[in-house]
Amino acid sequence: MNLYDRYVMPCLIDGCCGMPAVQQQRAKLLPRATGRVLEIGIGTGRNLPFYDPARLKTLEGLDPAGQMNAKAMKRAKQAGIDVQIVTLSAETIPADDASYDTVVCTFTLCTIPDPIKALHEMRRVLRPSGQLLFCEHGLAPDAGVSKWQHRLTPWWKPIAGGCHLNRDVPSMLAAGGFRAVEIESSYLKGPKPLVWVTRGVAVAA
Ligand SMILES: C[S@@+](CC[C@H](N)C(=O)[O-])C[C@H]1O[C@@H](n2cnc3c(N)ncnc32)[C@H](O)[C@@H]1O
Repeated sequence: MNLYDRYVMPCLIDGCCGMPAVQQQRAKLLPRATGRVLEIGIGTGRNLPFYDPARLKTLEGLDPAGQMNAKAMKRAKQAGIDVQIVTLSAETIPADDASYDTVVCTFTLCTIPDPIKALHEMRRVLRPSGQLLFCEHGLAPDAGVSKWQHRLTPWWKPIAGGCHLNRDVPSMLAAGGFRAVEIESSYLKGPKPLVWVTRGVAVAA
């Protein structure tokens, strides 16, 4: 791994993921996680302070970028939450079918190399009554913005750890076998190509 990916990129991601407008989205979503919970692409653990520990039976996180784990473990300790983190990718989740009550995926479908495969895995490991809590930035509906998202993605991707600005979140959920039961999209405060965010709850279609 080069020095940029080891030291600079985690700081950049942690900074972007900690913007106040993003934190507000987390505050709306994470308290709803319940039971056995799996967080996909846990990163530096930005979601950890927003879980309601009383609702959690277990919390596990996965992320292939092991260089982010230390920060996540520090945040877990500060939040008083037990979390098990494994350095793995979401395209192959090492869990039995129907293992989790909640899968959490925030600001990660943009980066996973094969997001549809990962969503199929998330669906597989969710119990039939389970829920996917998602909050993702993606392709904006306005032509003037989406044009820039397509143009900027090849430049942005290597800087931002593989992040795409132009992935269509509702289409990915459907292709991954999910049906959104709650879904809300809006621009957050910030540069428009980066801040079209879709948040909600999905279940197996
Ligand atoms: C922009 S960060 C978001 C981190 C965190 N989910 C949050 O909300 O702050 C994207 C994360 O996706 C992770 N990621 C990249 N490829 C992945 C994969 N194949 N499976 C799971 N996570 C992945 C990255 O390592 C990174 O931590």
